[in-house]
Amino acid sequence: MKKIEILLTALMVSSTPLFAQSPVNFKVDLDRPSGKMSSDMWGVFFEDINMGADGGIYAELVKNRSFEFDEPWMGWKKLTKEPEGTFLIVNNSKRKGNPRSLKVHNPNGIQLGLQNEGFRGMGVKKGEQYEFSLLFKQASAGMRIRVDVLNEQDKVIGTSSLSLSNGSDWQSGSSKFKVSETAAKGKLNVWIEGSGDAELDMISLFPTETWKNRPKGLRKDMVQMLADMKPGFIRFPGGCIVEGRDLASRFQWKKTVGPIEERELIINRWNTEFKHRPAPDYFQTFGLGFYEYFLMAEDIGAKAVPILNCGMACQFNTGELVPMDELDTYIQDALDLIEFANGPVTTTWGKLRSDMGHPAPFNLEMLGVGNENWGPQYVERLAAFKKVLNDKHPEIAIIASSGTDPDGERFAYLDEQLRDMKIDIIDEHYYRPPSWFLSSVSRYDDYDRKGPKVFAGEYASHTTRPNGPGRSTWEAALSEAAFLTGLERNADVVQMASYAPLFGHVDGWQWSPDLIWVDNLQAYGTPSYQVQKLYSTHTGTDIIPLQWNGKAVAGQDSLFASAVYDSKAKELIIKLVNYNNKPVQANFEINSQKKLKPAAVKTTLANPDLSITTSFEEPLKIQPKVEEVKYNGKKISDTFAPYSLTVIKLPVQ
Ligand code: AHR
Repeated sequence: MKKIEILLTALMVSSTPLFAQSPVNFKVDLDRPSGKMSSDMWGVFFEDINMGADGGIYAELVKNRSFEFDEPWMGWKKLTKEPEGTFLIVNNSKRKGNPRSLKVHNPNGIQLGLQNEGFRGMGVKKGEQYEFSLLFKQASAGMRIRVDVLNEQDKVIGTSSLSLSNGSDWQSGSSKFKVSETAAKGKLNVWIEGSGDAELDMISLFPTETWKNRPKGLRKDMVQMLADMKPGFIRFPGGCIVEGRDLASRFQWKKTVGPIEERELIINRWNTEFKHRPAPDYFQTFGLGFYEYFLMAEDIGAKAVPILNCGMACQFNTGELVPMDELDTYIQDALDLIEFANGPVTTTWGKLRSDMGHPAPFNLEMLGVGNENWGPQYVERLAAFKKVLNDKHPEIAIIASSGTDPDGERFAYLDEQLRDMKIDIIDEHYYRPPSWFLSSVSRYDDYDRKGPKVFAGEYASHTTRPNGPGRSTWEAALSEAAFLTGLERNADVVQMASYAPLFGHVDGWQWSPDLIWVDNLQAYGTPSYQVQKLYSTHTGTDIIPLQWNGKAVAGQDSLFASAVYDSKAKELIIKLVNYNNKPVQANFEINSQKKLKPAAVKTTLANPDLSITTSFEEPLKIQPKVEEVKYNGKKISDTFAPYSLTVIKLPVQ
């Protein structure tokens, strides 16, 4: 390189500004909160999509355990060659919810074996205990069941057996055993030994180590990911699954409570929804039913937010409508759900809750009527629900759908109607590109403060959809983080918010991006998970004005900020998103009569590369960096990393 070129290059480098701009000066009015916020604002959205429940958080390892899938042998393979008529699928129409069972006829006592493939294999862990169980009846004397857990190479890594006793009524049998190796895609062999006949059902394998070690419970690691977020609420069971492709496949909560073996399974609507992601083996067994949802919510300190069908099937599918004069059963379902959740144990549904193990009420406060429904037919049905619910249960807030999009004709129509109706909470959904999230940060600034509250019930920043699988990049997550400053700033209107969908199984997803990815053994959070967690673990009770030149920090120079005060913990919490590729120096002047303790905690999520994401190999590629910092009284000066979300927690005396 010639001398002159070297000089020019050096000059160019030295004139490249180190910071995005000169220091910015923010003012924080700690003593003049602009409104109250719900400390339960940041929650989670749960739907049985992407194998979220069956094959996911519901820890059952056997697929089609009761032979109730449309094809009764789906998931099963016969291991032996047996005479015709040895295995028969019996349909006993008197058995509530679960008519089919497997009849075994083996007069000559030949060896019989079945294999279950699990949900994309079975994940088992070395040294952990598993419980095999089944229901049986009319077993001939001496008949036994032996089970082997196999790894991917068909090596037996765990085994157990149990005897079947005779009896004309259904009995249950179980045995516990440990496995000697970890396998991500194991299988279960079920050997039926001895001669004679037997009828079998509910052939099941669970880890005994589940969330709170509840028998036949939930996957511990997956619930832990949620518990770590300290979510304010759990919305369940969806999502489109509430609506169903048709009314027959809508979610009916009553079919998901009571004895597990009586819960009638149905096809999961995501079984067929996306042609490019077919999942013919995706059914809802409802082992995770409404009782378990309420329990999970309680366990992790979240409010339960159920959403019920409003008498309409998914309008993207059949759009079937219940005639208005037949809507009563749907409304009754809502009334009965309130009784199930909150009613005394002397009531029909309160008694069922108690019989299932929870005499105390679940303290339901909110109920959704419809998911992504729209049009006058929805308004008509919603009004009928509202009339009865307001009359009988004025204490329950009603959440209503504003359709599928955050704008457009349908949204405008519904928004007006719902406001006229004085609905309590409007559920808004937005699956949009990062640019939308960045430019919509002031969306709620002008919303009517006296009107309904808003529930940002489903949202995610999509970098590549609809043309490809959405990647959960740092770009997507940071745009969400920026948008969430706008929600927090308007938390007097936006009462709740939840990212969607929650879980995606790497071998069984239909929709992406998702907040948390799992395989059969592990789970990891996406960058969006880290953002959500940072918000939900740094929530407050009061909205604190934070301004730059007299205006909210809502994208000027690619900066976004909000502040809240947590009156319980006595902390001022400031959030700043720097969406620049350079660091930013910021000064915060905190106006307050209160004293601030100098020791603060600063947590940063940052990466200069917006395209990065996390994975099983690098789950913490983006992770919070927590520092204890000392600031100078009410004047804070700090540097904020390029492409970062920073949360500063300041104790107030
Ligand atoms: O979150 C995935 C789907 O997106 C939900 O089921 C539905 O409500 C929305 O369209």
